[in-house]
Amino acid sequence: MIVVVSDRPDRSRPLVEAIGAVAECRVVGTDETWERIGPFRGVIADITLSRPEAKRCLRRLATRPGRRSTPLICLTRGSGQGAFTEARNLGATLCLSALAEPRMVVGSLVREIWPDKSVADLVVTREAQRAGTLMSTLFAAAQTGTVDMPSVEQGIAPVLDAIHEGGLSRWLDEVWAYDDVTFQHCLLVSGTAAAFAQSLGLSMTDRQLLTRAALVHDVGKSRIPHAILNKPGRLDDDERAVMQTHAPIGHEILSASGGCDAVTLAVTRHHHEMLDGSGYPDGLCADEIGDPVRLLTICDIYAALIERRPYKTPMTTSEALSILSGMEGKLEGGLVQAFGRAVQGAP
Ligand SMILES: [Fe+2]
Ligand SMILES: [Fe+2]
Repeated sequence: MIVVVSDRPDRSRPLVEAIGAVAECRVVGTDETWERIGPFRGVIADITLSRPEAKRCLRRLATRPGRRSTPLICLTRGSGQGAFTEARNLGATLCLSALAEPRMVVGSLVREIWPDKSVADLVVTREAQRAGTLMSTLFAAAQTGTVDMPSVEQGIAPVLDAIHEGGLSRWLDEVWAYDDVTFQHCLLVSGTAAAFAQSLGLSMTDRQLLTRAALVHDVGKSRIPHAILNKPGRLDDDERAVMQTHAPIGHEILSASGGCDAVTLAVTRHHHEMLDGSGYPDGLCADEIGDPVRLLTICDIYAALIERRPYKTPMTTSEALSILSGMEGKLEGGLVQAFGRAVQGAP
């Protein structure tokens, strides 16, 4: 956690938002005693240091055990060396002008606390945690009932922001660390879909639509027995039949939840359909399968191929892409090629 000491929370808001992108952030006033606040990694003082209550607050902070190993960044308002000297005397490890851009302040904060990480690394880590939290809430609710569709919205921006800020590779590295195979899969599909949509130059509305659909597309797996869902190795015919019910079950859950858009419903039911009619659950062919479903199906297969599981050797990007290219007739060739460019060209 990062603590921002502010005597003007309205003025500090852009800074607090920028910090919130990389770490949990708590805002306190100059009356903070530092006794009950819990552990934190750094402090940014966005206060007028000439005020007595500001000085008292930082002096109290200086007496906190372990304070010396915690960076204190002071944003100074006065001009010249005087303000910097005053801040240093109050324990500042770094002084920056209060006029500095919030992004620059966050960059300095990251260098002070996590010298081996970049801002983009931390953004991706934080956004993946947010999206992961949403996945567990979503699947827990879907196991026995319906899902709160408005809460799904909270997972969309983290995925899009992480892909935009950090690129697909960082997202994959972060999500591969998830033990839960279903959450890992849904987050892999979501990041891949967001990167594909971005590379296709789709509008923000369409990117949000595809990311939403990707987040919930396998929600029906919440009702598949764990022994089948997490089975290491191949499923037998009976197990496969049970597994395949996740698509219509997911569609049922979302229909019953209300407020779900038509694209998300279609993707959830049909993301295992193939253009040649060999897919499930409805054996749809060619024109019966819409563009968003075709796009998500490619992302879904790719994500399943590159997933990381303890008993499996991970597949490389080029191996996975050559399998997709070999699915001519089942997937739209032009879209598979565009997908290849999107994931290979992704940072
Ligand atoms: Fe699925
Ligand atoms: Fe899937």
